[in-house]
Amino acid sequence: MFPLTLFLTSTCFATVHGYLWPSPMLDELESLLYEITAQPPDMASFISPCDSFISGGIQTGRSNPADWIRTAYHDMATHNIADGTGGLDASIRFAEEQARPENAGNGFSNTLGVVAGFSSRYVSIADTIALGTVMAVEFCGGPRIPFRGGRIDATEPNLPGVPEPDQTLDSHIASFARQGFTQQEMITLVACGHTFGGVQHEPFPNIVHEINDSNNTQSVAHFDTTNIHFDNNRYGNISPARTQNPLVVGFNDTTNSDKRIFSSDGNVTMRSLHYAAKFSFANSPDLFASSCSSLLARMLDTVPRGVVLSDVITPLPVKPGNIQFSLDGDVLQFTGNVRFFNLPSNTNRIALLLWDDHLGATHNSTLLPSLAGTFTYQLGDVATTYRFGGDDFRGIALDAAAGIVNMQFMLDGKLQTQQDEKTVDFAVQDSVVLSSTSCFYGNNATARIDVAVRLSAKTAAASVKSLYIEIEDRSSVTKSDFFAVDSSAKVNEAYTMWSVNIPGSPFNRNVGAEIDGVEVVVAKVMRTLPALPSCDSDES
Ligand code: HEM
Ligand SMILES: *[C@@H]1O[C@H](CO)[C@@H](O)[C@H](O)[C@H]1NC(C)=O
Ligand SMILES: *[C@@H]1O[C@H](CO)[C@@H](O)[C@H](O)[C@H]1NC(C)=O
Ligand SMILES: *[C@@H]1O[C@H](CO)[C@@H](O)[C@H](O)[C@H]1NC(C)=O
Ligand SMILES: *[C@@H]1O[C@H](CO)[C@@H](O)[C@H](O)[C@H]1NC(C)=O
Ligand SMILES: *[C@@H]1O[C@H](CO)[C@@H](O)[C@H](O)[C@H]1NC(C)=O
Ligand SMILES: *[C@@H]1O[C@H](CO)[C@@H](O)[C@H](O)[C@H]1NC(C)=O
Repeated sequence: MFPLTLFLTSTCFATVHGYLWPSPMLDELESLLYEITAQPPDMASFISPCDSFISGGIQTGRSNPADWIRTAYHDMATHNIADGTGGLDASIRFAEEQARPENAGNGFSNTLGVVAGFSSRYVSIADTIALGTVMAVEFCGGPRIPFRGGRIDATEPNLPGVPEPDQTLDSHIASFARQGFTQQEMITLVACGHTFGGVQHEPFPNIVHEINDSNNTQSVAHFDTTNIHFDNNRYGNISPARTQNPLVVGFNDTTNSDKRIFSSDGNVTMRSLHYAAKFSFANSPDLFASSCSSLLARMLDTVPRGVVLSDVITPLPVKPGNIQFSLDGDVLQFTGNVRFFNLPSNTNRIALLLWDDHLGATHNSTLLPSLAGTFTYQLGDVATTYRFGGDDFRGIALDAAAGIVNMQFMLDGKLQTQQDEKTVDFAVQDSVVLSSTSCFYGNNATARIDVAVRLSAKTAAASVKSLYIEIEDRSSVTKSDFFAVDSSAKVNEAYTMWSVNIPGSPFNRNVGAEIDGVEVVVAKVMRTLPALPSCDSDES
């Protein structure tokens, strides 16, 4: 027996600019960025505390935040501003790039082993690499780095081009110029990166000797004494008397690249960063923190020509989620929830869901506090969540013919706007929904998925071009059409019904539709409790 639950979703693809809900990619990235609990499976749980390391723990001398930031730089550093090739595109995931001398060490595979796990059908690995740097810097004492989404994963390695410590200053200036950074930006960016981590003995035996320390088993010569923390190198990384940076005061002058880079403008840039940073950036904006925030953002936003990034993703004030439909006879069960961010506190708040139907009427229903209630995330944003519908958790019973076109949310009599502060409508798609008659054949372990297509969808607001079952495997999606829309049978005034049998274990199957040229995931089919009802009952 394979018990099933159907998760209905109604997400649509949306353009990348001007982020209004819904957008599958940006909605996911927004959650990754702002719904931070630092508890597993959250990305931040891998860098909390900041001396966490993927394997071997803190006694190794290494740390995930350092690996993650270095990985983003090495992935980006292949960029060629003249021809638009290279950039932050996850090409560092290819073994061929990791085998190059310029990418010595296992920090890249360690990083990808964690961050790529947060990629999905909608979120690229390159976006998770960028996200890793944003998290590591912000979580470990640094500034917030404005984050844009939409990086595209390379399909093959880029040309080499990451600077190495034994190269000349001139070659480093030329290399950063090719990547799109001036000499002053190079100095600052290296200082921003080299506040984390250090140089390991094993990949760099010419720079660091073996260190006999049971608290530093991988012999890492740290850049400073606060190597798991973003700061302005309080101990000074330009003065040989006060720094321990192995790329400044290393025994082998050939590889003292930071010394050459930091002093390359007569120390002007480093002095300005160092002195400005006497003031704590935690209390007031400080030059080192603000310079690093904008330069690291530019590093993360350096992408191959043709890749269009979104606007900076800021937390959505109103974010519906888990929108689900189930057609049950003439009733369309509608469930979902909504997250509000940073509401003023009000114990007597009246929260309403309002919606327009296909027949031009307006309805409303009281929003109920959801089980998640009010929750303060790690970075201080307070989420207040409500769910749609009544005490039975079955959601709101809509008349199938009337259906729903869009939602609005009202708090204490005031309509809540989307992020643009103008839009009060949240579009909802009920053209293709799952039917509650979907069931499971025990004799041959086959799920019968019944899909209802709105009759008016073909002519009016939307037209359904195709319906398909897809197997979703992180970054690849395999689709197979299972029927053509115009051979359907009418089952009630509003909907026609289609069926497809899915044999075997229906893990990660989506029922999808193309509506008005836009692909929509109608239902996720997963093998979890409660069980899909047996088909036998409706046959008897
Ligand atoms: C000329 C430019 C640069 C050179 C020659 C250079 C060289 C190095 C070397 C040799 C290491 C030791 C790596 C290891 O042992 O795993 C290192 C570590 C590191 N680099 Fe750079 N780097 C440069 C620029 C940058 C930039 C621009 C960033 C980021 C903004 C950065 C971020 C890091 C970080 C975070 C580490 C610590 C890695 C760890 O401890 O796992 N580097 N760098
Ligand atoms: C210094 O580094 C260079 C470049 O990696 C290397 O060729 C040389 O052998 C090193 N010298 C010492 C003393 O380790
Ligand atoms: C490493 O340190 C331990 C304890 O301090 C000492 O007994 C041992 O001889 C050292 N080994 C080397 C190779 O220096
Ligand atoms: C390792 O770190 C622990 C905790 O900070 C400390 O008590 C111990 O003395 C350290 N051991 C060595 C060999 O430095
Ligand atoms: C830059 O600073 C370093 C370290 O303090 C010093 O050795 C060097 O002479 C300075 N260079 C200039 C041009 O001031
Ligand atoms: C909600 O619906 C009720 C009943 O139809 C109606 O009287 C009321 O005016 C509606 N509220 C709003 C805010 O539209
Ligand atoms: C499974 O059994 C049902 C009912 O017996 C049948 O309709 C369906 O075609 C079968 N599916 C497969 C894949 O054999």
